[in-house]
Amino acid sequence: MKINGNGNRGNWGSRMGFILAASGSAIGLGNVWKFPYITGQNGGGAFVLVYLVCAIIIGLPIMLAEFTIGRNTFRNPVGAINSLRPNSPWVVVGFMGVLAGFLILSFYGVVGGWTIAYIVKSLGSNIAHFETPEKAGEFFGTFISNSSEIVVYHLAFMAICIGIVIRGIDKGIEKACNILMPALLVMLVLLMIRSLTLPGAFEGVKFYLAPDFSKITPEVVLIALGQAFFSLSLGMGCMITYGSYLSPKEDLATSALFVVIFDTMIALLVGMVIFPAVFAMGLEPAEGPSLVFSVLPAVFTQIPMGGFVAILFFILLTIAAITSGISLLEVVVAYFVDEKGWSRKKAVLFSSSIIFAFGVPSGLSFGSMSDVTWFGMTFFENVDNIASNYLLPIGGMLTAIFIGWVWSPLEAKKEIERHGGTFRFAGAWEFLIRYVSPIAVAIVFLAKIF
Ligand code: PFF
Repeated sequence: MKINGNGNRGNWGSRMGFILAASGSAIGLGNVWKFPYITGQNGGGAFVLVYLVCAIIIGLPIMLAEFTIGRNTFRNPVGAINSLRPNSPWVVVGFMGVLAGFLILSFYGVVGGWTIAYIVKSLGSNIAHFETPEKAGEFFGTFISNSSEIVVYHLAFMAICIGIVIRGIDKGIEKACNILMPALLVMLVLLMIRSLTLPGAFEGVKFYLAPDFSKITPEVVLIALGQAFFSLSLGMGCMITYGSYLSPKEDLATSALFVVIFDTMIALLVGMVIFPAVFAMGLEPAEGPSLVFSVLPAVFTQIPMGGFVAILFFILLTIAAITSGISLLEVVVAYFVDEKGWSRKKAVLFSSSIIFAFGVPSGLSFGSMSDVTWFGMTFFENVDNIASNYLLPIGGMLTAIFIGWVWSPLEAKKEIERHGGTFRFAGAWEFLIRYVSPIAVAIVFLAKIF
C-alpha cells in the first residue's frame, strides 16, 4: 500500500505502532543497564535532574528534527540528506549514521547475548545463588570470558533481530514492539513493587530522588548529555529511518513528545527498581557497569522469590535490547534497500552477517582477546567509544545544523504541520535546534577530546 509515496518500502500500520516502535528503539540497554549505573556513579538525584533537562531541551528538538527529515524524504539517512541537498558534502552525515548503526549493533548484540544467557541461567536457577556480590561478579567474569558460549548467545540475539526485521515494518518491527513494549512495562511495574516493599528500600528512593546540588559538576552535565543521545537513539539517523515509514496524517511533534516521555519514564522506573533493592541489601550504588549483571543477582539471592524475580528481570532486559537492536539493524537495511535497490531479505541477511562477524572480536574482548588493545582499550571498548562518544554526538550536532541552517526551519515546519494541525512551539523549536542543541553538543564533544 502506498500511503506517503514511499513506494513499497513499507509503512507503520498505526500511529500507536510507530510510537511503540520508536520508543522500543529508544528504550534499551541504555535505560536498563547504563542509566542506573551512571546515576549511581554520579550522585543519584542530582544526575537525574540534569539528565531530564538534557532530554527535554536537546533530545526532544533533535528527535522531532529526525522524524521530520525522515517523513519528508521517506528515505534512510543517506538517501534523506541526498534528496534534500543533492550532491552536497552533507551526505557524509548520512553515511556516518549508517556506520554508527553498524558499529553500535556489533557490540550491542554481544551484550544482548549476555542478557539471553542470563535468562537461560536464571531458568536453570544458576543466577540467584550468590551469598556476596563478589561471588556474583566472579560468576559474571567467568561467563563473559568463555569465548564459545559468548559467540553462541551473540548469534542467538542476532538471529532474533534478523527474524523480526526480515518481516518488514508493520508485520515485523511494529508487531513485535506492540507485544514486547507493554510486556516490558508490566514487568517493570511488578519489579518496582517488589523492590519498593523490601525493608530499607526508602534509603534507595532518597538517594535516587533527592538531588544534592553540590554533585552537579561540568563533568556530570557532559555525561548526562551523552547518555541522553544514546538513550533516545539520536545522532545516527535511526529516527530519520523510523520517521520515513510514517504517514503524512500523523502528528510528528506529539509523537516525538511521547517517545521522549516514554523513554524517560522507563529510565526513571528502572532506577526505582534498582536503587531501593541495592540500598535494602546494603550494597554500593556506584558499582559501575557490572551493577546489573553482578550486583543484582546478589540482590535476587537475598530477596523472597528472588529466582523468579531474576527471570523476570533478565527477560525484561532482553526485550529492551531486542527492540533497540532491530532499530539499529533497520538503519543499515534501509540504506541497502533504498540506495542499492536490494530486496529486504538480501539486505537483512547481508548486513546482519557482516555486523555479526565484526562483532565477534567485541564478544571475545573479555576473554581470549582481552590483551589485544589499541589506545589502552579492548576491541569492544574502542568500537563503543568511536560510535557512542564520537559518531552520535557529531551526528546529532550536524543534524541540528543541517535542519536549522541548511535545509530550513520553515520547510521543516511545513512538514511538521502536514497532518493539518498548527505547530504551536515552532519558535521555541527553531531556537533550540539552531542554537542550543548544536552549541551544547559541541561543548560535550570538545570536552571529550580535551
Ligand atoms: N537507545 C538504545 C538504548 O538506550 O539502549 C540504543 C540505541 C538504539 C542507540 C538505536 C542508537 C540507536 F540508533
